[in-house]
Amino acid sequence: MSESGGRYAHITGWGAHVPARAVTNQDLSQILPTSDAWIQERTGIVERHIAEEGEYTSTMAIHAGRQALKIANLDPSVLDLVICATSTPDYLMPNTASLIQDGLGAGNAAAFDLNTACSGFVYAVSVAAGLIKGGLYERILVIGAESMSRVMNWSDRSTCVLFGDGAGAVVLEASDRPGGVLSSKLGSDGSGGDLLMVGLGTRLPITQDSVARGETAMKMNGQQVFRFATRIMSEATKEVTALAGLQLADIDLIVPHQANTRILEVAAKQLGFAPGRIYSNVHRYGNTSAASIPLALVDALSEGRIRAGDHIVFVGFGGGLTWGACLVEWSFGPQDRHWSASQRALRWIRDRLARVKGGLHALDRKLAAAGRGRRKGDDGGPWRGLGPGQP
Ligand code: ACO
Repeated sequence: MSESGGRYAHITGWGAHVPARAVTNQDLSQILPTSDAWIQERTGIVERHIAEEGEYTSTMAIHAGRQALKIANLDPSVLDLVICATSTPDYLMPNTASLIQDGLGAGNAAAFDLNTACSGFVYAVSVAAGLIKGGLYERILVIGAESMSRVMNWSDRSTCVLFGDGAGAVVLEASDRPGGVLSSKLGSDGSGGDLLMVGLGTRLPITQDSVARGETAMKMNGQQVFRFATRIMSEATKEVTALAGLQLADIDLIVPHQANTRILEVAAKQLGFAPGRIYSNVHRYGNTSAASIPLALVDALSEGRIRAGDHIVFVGFGGGLTWGACLVEWSFGPQDRHWSASQRALRWIRDRLARVKGGLHALDRKLAAAGRGRRKGDDGGPWRGLGPGQP
C-alpha cells in the first residue's frame, strides 16, 4: 500500500453498551451476607449493570457495534468480518457473531466467536490486526460482549459480587499510514483451567439437578487467580512493549482488564507506573470479562485520557488460563471522528437501507421455508416424534 509496502491496522471506531439496570453493592447486601465496605475494599467495585429479561450478549453487542460503526462512519455492509469475543454466548449454536452480523445488517461479513474468557478482546484485536496486516481483510468489527450475570451462582458471595454485563466494540481498518496495532503477545496455561470455570457445556449435561447444585455456574479460586493476574499483567506489558521496539517510558496509558483495583495497584508498582497511567473504571461496571477492556477504552476516550499519537497497552487475563497484550499507537483525537450533518444523514440512510435489506432477506428465507413445508405436507419428515438426545 505505501512505497515500503507497509500495511497497518488502525482502530477507527469504538462503542459501548451496558444494561440500564445498575445493581449496587448495597443492593447485593440485601440478598447476600456481604457489605459495600467489603466489596469496595477488596475489589474497588461499587456497582455493576445486569441484563434484564430480553437483553442478551448479542443485543448488547449490536448496540456497541452500531456506535463503533457510526464513529468510523462506515456502513455495516462494508465490513469483511465480525469477531465476537465472549464466554457467555446466546447459544452454543449459532455463534453470537453471526447474530450480531445479522442484527447490524453486515451482509458481506464473515463472523465467528472467540472464547478466551477475560482475555477475549485482546485475542480478538490481535487476530483482527493480523488478518488486516496480512492483506486478507480491510475492515473488521471486534466486539467483547458478556452476560456474566447469567452464569453466576447468586448465592456464592465470593464470585457473584465481582461480575457484570455489557459490551464494547472497535472497528479496525487497513491503512498505509503507520500506527495502529503495533504488537501483540498471547499466551495460555491450560493446566490452570480449573481455577476459573463455568461448567456449562457438553461434558456436563444441563439438568435441573446440575443447575440446582450450582455445577453449571461460575467457580473460581480467587487467590490463585489474583496471583496469576498480577504476575501476568506486568510480564505481558513488558513483552509487548519490547516487541514494538519501545520502552515502558513510552507507554502513555495501560487499558487493562478490569477485575480488581488491587490487581491494578500491584501491577502499577511492578511496572514502576504512577497509578494514573493504568486506567480503571471497575467501580462502574465490575468485571465484565471480554467486554471490560473496550468498555474501559470508551470511558478513557470520553474522559480525554487518550490523544492522537499516544501509545496504549491493552492487557487481559482470564479463564483458560489465558492472557494477552497488544500495543496500539492511537491514530485519532476524538475531534477527528466528528462527521458533518450531510455525512451523518447519508450514513443514516445507508443504515436504514441495510436494515431493510436484512429484514427482507430474513422474510424471504421464512417464506421459502414455509413454501417447502407446505410442499412436503409439513409432517416433520423422518425426524417426526424424535426429541433432543435421541439419535
Ligand atoms: N462479602 C463478604 N465476605 C466475603 C465475600 C463477600 N462478597 N467474599 C468472600 N468473603 C469472605 C471469605 O469467605 C473469607 O472469609 P473467612 O476469612 O471467614 O474464610 C474472607 O472474605 C476472605 O476471602 P478471600 O477469598 O481470602 O478474599 P480475598 O482478599 O482473596 O478477595 C477476591 C477475594 C476479591 C475474589 C480476590 O481473591 C480476587 O480479586 N481475585 C482475583 C479474581 C479475578 O480477577 N477474577 C477474574 C478473572 S477474569 C475471568 O476470566 C473471568
